[in-house]
Amino acid sequence: METAFDMFYETEVPEEELIVSRADFSGKITYVNETFADISGYEPSELIGQPHNVIRHPDMPKSLFTDLWDTIKNGDVWHGYVKNLRKDGGYYWVYARVSTVMKDKKPVEYKSVREPVSREKATEMQDLYDKLRSEEEGTTRVVLYINNDKLKAAQALEE
Ligand SMILES: Cc1cc2nc3c(=O)[nH]c(=O)nc-3n(C[C@H](O)[C@H](O)[C@H](O)COP(=O)(O)O)c2cc1C
Repeated sequence: METAFDMFYETEVPEEELIVSRADFSGKITYVNETFADISGYEPSELIGQPHNVIRHPDMPKSLFTDLWDTIKNGDVWHGYVKNLRKDGGYYWVYARVSTVMKDKKPVEYKSVREPVSREKATEMQDLYDKLRSEEEGTTRVVLYINNDKLKAAQALEE
């Protein structure tokens, strides 16, 4: 028997490690470090050459990314809180800085370095992004709490 819901787990971002990626001007991933691959649940080879929105989480408002691209195209540094989607459907929160990589004074690509986010901040940003998305798209995020005993019973039926 199948349970009629999916469960998505949050992955903790380790304090001492930075999550790094680079992308070309069209947003295609050109490099990821090992931590990026580990946290997102992909192999580096599955990410290189993919558009960076492979890890876009549906909870992220569109306007954040419009602002990101406007800012970096302008040569400025964008920073902000991002909820990212793991390959297994789970998610992780990061504080990201996105900027231009310069070579011989010319822009060659973009890079992003990300750090962990506190639980309080992630909750605050989730609320804010829910509001923004509701304004932008007219959609509402629904969260379902399930009693642990009922969940265990449903899982036992599955086995
Ligand atoms: C260097 C760099 C890093 C990025 N990192 C992320 C990221 O971690 N998560 C994400 O959802 N989008 C990231 N983006 C933005 C994506 O390119 C994309 O704009 C976003 O996922 C929204 O998808 P959409 O433009 O197809 O709507 C990054 C862009 C650049 C240039």
